[in-house]
Amino acid sequence: MRKLKEFTSEQEIIDCIVDDIKKNLERSKITYKGRKVLITGGAGFLGSYICQVLVEQEARKVICIDNFSSGKKENIERLLDKPNFTFVYHDISHEFNPEENIDIVMHLASRASPFEFEHHPIQILKSNTLGTMNALEIARMYDAEFFYTSTSEVYGNPDPAHVPTPESYWGHVNPVGPRSCYDESKRAGEAFVKAYELEYNIPVRIARIFNTYGPRIRGGPLFGRVVANFIEETLQDKTISVFGDGSQTRSFTFVSDQIEGLLRLAYPEIPQARSEVINIGNNLETTILDLAKLIKELTNSSSEIGFFGLPKDDPTRRCPVLDKARDILNWKPRTQLVDGLKLTIPWFKFMIH
Ligand SMILES: NC(=O)c1ccc[n+]([C@@H]2O[C@H](COP(=O)([O-])OP(=O)(O)OC[C@H]3O[C@@H](n4cnc5c(N)ncnc54)[C@H](O)[C@@H]3O)[C@@H](O)[C@H]2O)c1
Repeated sequence: MRKLKEFTSEQEIIDCIVDDIKKNLERSKITYKGRKVLITGGAGFLGSYICQVLVEQEARKVICIDNFSSGKKENIERLLDKPNFTFVYHDISHEFNPEENIDIVMHLASRASPFEFEHHPIQILKSNTLGTMNALEIARMYDAEFFYTSTSEVYGNPDPAHVPTPESYWGHVNPVGPRSCYDESKRAGEAFVKAYELEYNIPVRIARIFNTYGPRIRGGPLFGRVVANFIEETLQDKTISVFGDGSQTRSFTFVSDQIEGLLRLAYPEIPQARSEVINIGNNLETTILDLAKLIKELTNSSSEIGFFGLPKDDPTRRCPVLDKARDILNWKPRTQLVDGLKLTIPWFKFMIH
């Protein structure tokens, strides 16, 4: 990744990240050129990078399906006039038939911020259960490969013996807790994927994504995830809202690393990845308090750090074992947290002003 330079627009930062992803993929000869790919949730944070990379890699067609529940039209605005890009406004928890051949279906559609769990639990459940089934049906109709974005949240709140967490860990999840609409529906989504593989022999791959941040991650009271919230608070010199004492950990993955990992896993020409469930994340654990201090320092902010009640069932630690990603995908995260933040903070500055 290019080191910090003077960017003149938020779009330049995104393009710099997309170029970096393409360069790293092309170094391993991974290209989606000539493929027809349908992406649900393509107007979201991660989906919009995937759409841009595939459009620029000259995929034959990229069909983006989204209902803008947590994504934004701005994220895909510059793709709308590209001849190999089509946008369809649709809620994937209802059936969908693209009525043309598709090579790969990527199912990303789901709200993903903890605040959304409280306000839209039924939508989230539907996107990952009915939505996953409807997306799988598209793969079945057109003999396409299927790729599902699951989450580290399927591990729930593992006891310390299972952190770092390998894919073989079954999870410790509260089925009726405030996070269950997300955790349990992602678990059910994985079960749907495996059921379609078993019954219809569809080629499937599942990514378990760990906390990812970067330009385009949404902030604000409904969508905000921790990195976005801390950056917005520090840039406005507001109190930084740490939940609990801040000793809980997360492993933060910069978006360029995440997208590269996802596009390696989804790539049909890596046959060893077929049927696999693979953690994609960063294995460097950071406490939430250290994250708050780092962002305060990088933004040169006068914000105070405030401590608020820890949400129920908030996971104590999150850290992936990445051996499968290394061995099967030849992938590992490259971006240091400080370097990723140095690209994310200027992007937020453009968006705030
Ligand atoms: N970003 C992360 O840290 C992270 C971590 C773990 C898992 N994931 C998973 O990765 C996927 C993408 O996450 P993201 O960070 O880009 O989130 P996001 O909220 O930015 O993107 C999700 C997109 O899906 C769309 N969507 C939601 N429900 C839909 C529906 N029923 N029909 C059509 N479109 C719908 C939203 O409008 C949005 O554009 C999600 O499935 C999420 O659970 C993300």
